[in-house]
Amino acid sequence: MSKKLYIETLGCAMNERDSAHIIAELEEKEHYSLTQNPKEADLILINTCSVREKPEKKLFSEIGQYAKIKKENAKIGVCGCTASHLGDLILKKTKSVDFVLGARNVSKITQIIHEKRVAWVDIDYDESAYVFSPNPHSPLKGMINISIGCDKKCTYCIVPHTRGNEISIPADLILEEARRMVENGTKEILLLGQNVNNYGKYFSHSHRAINFTQLLNEISQINGLERIRFTSPHPLHMDDDFIIEVAQNPKICKAIHMPLQSGSSAILQKMRRGYSKEWFLNRVEKMRSLIPNLSIGTDIIVGFPTESEEDFLDTLDVLEKVRFDTLYSFIYSTRPHTQAQKWLEVDRSVELVEEQIAKERLLRLKDRHKEILTEDNLKQIGRVHKILFESFDATHSLLEGRSDTNKLVRVKAESGLVGEICEVRISQVKGAQLLGELIS
Ligand code: 5AD
Ligand code: SF4
Repeated sequence: MSKKLYIETLGCAMNERDSAHIIAELEEKEHYSLTQNPKEADLILINTCSVREKPEKKLFSEIGQYAKIKKENAKIGVCGCTASHLGDLILKKTKSVDFVLGARNVSKITQIIHEKRVAWVDIDYDESAYVFSPNPHSPLKGMINISIGCDKKCTYCIVPHTRGNEISIPADLILEEARRMVENGTKEILLLGQNVNNYGKYFSHSHRAINFTQLLNEISQINGLERIRFTSPHPLHMDDDFIIEVAQNPKICKAIHMPLQSGSSAILQKMRRGYSKEWFLNRVEKMRSLIPNLSIGTDIIVGFPTESEEDFLDTLDVLEKVRFDTLYSFIYSTRPHTQAQKWLEVDRSVELVEEQIAKERLLRLKDRHKEILTEDNLKQIGRVHKILFESFDATHSLLEGRSDTNKLVRVKAESGLVGEICEVRISQVKGAQLLGELIS
């Protein structure tokens, strides 16, 4: 009988991808099969995120919960960014954890499960050329890592500390994996990296010259592949060549994630983002002039140390001008090993924004964004989108899928169309949800 694996994945798409690698490795090489029930698992893994403080704090109570309900000899492993960041400390603080495996050490999963009370969290470890076991389930929408780590030093961000230096994955490995996925039924590929459009800058072995724009172009030539998405590009590296490729290549989805972080040039400088408000707006303008229906998503942090009302009004101004289609917004959270934490807690050269003010700014930002979305969604009525159908709800006869602009669209129809790309005319808007009719 196969052993059972339960895995909980927190955080970003990168972590989801790491979990997918872990599952594939354990299924193929250690004969595990996945379960949704931690009580019957022989191995419980928590793939953690450390980008903000709250989920990190919850980790220990979660470990306690799993320890209470697990089978007698079941093992518990902690993986991901908090594993990288806390390492040994996790073993010291809790007896029930059997091993700690840092992000960027994912390829060691089949070894570490046989160890007792170890932490392998080397952030210089280079697994960029490791060939993971293929995912036998070949999903409609596949994910491929194109780089590991991050070469930026944004002053709020813990990721360079948890995922280490940036290294690009060899292009031939990426292309081979993409081809294999497409042969097995994948229609859409999501390329992943901390700064995808910095691709090709660092390889661990000699490699032909290639940048992100060229990689996109090469992947798009795979027959049978319908759509390419990527996350996250850095606004700083959005040069004209890149924008023109996105505009002209029909396989590249017309939805882009452009993490703004702040609309104030002064705050952007303190965050060390490398661009100004004007540069960001200029890139948006250039893209919108070439791709009229482009959907733009963003990440915004409010309450970065020293952020004034005037700085925040600049963020609202960018929101007003760009009218983002999706917004992930956060209150600044102080993270260890970052420059901003040093300014705050070591040098005491700057102060945190009062919690009440930061909360109120977050609310104002979210409220205005909701209004913008409602207004813009109404403009969708009558528009025709190509939808890749991903699921069918038989009880309500509803097909669900996404447009290439990443809008979630539901259609009343029979099943049988999952995996197909069909034209749909939007007929109704219900909150953020679009309802449409198939065009036969
Ligand atoms: N505090 C709040 N939000 C953060 N992010 C990253 N670091 C922090 C932090 N210290 C947000 C950024 C990033 C997203 C993944 O998380 O907006 O783009
Ligand atoms: Fe992803 Fe960053 Fe969270 Fe790590 S810390 S899981 S890279 S969001």
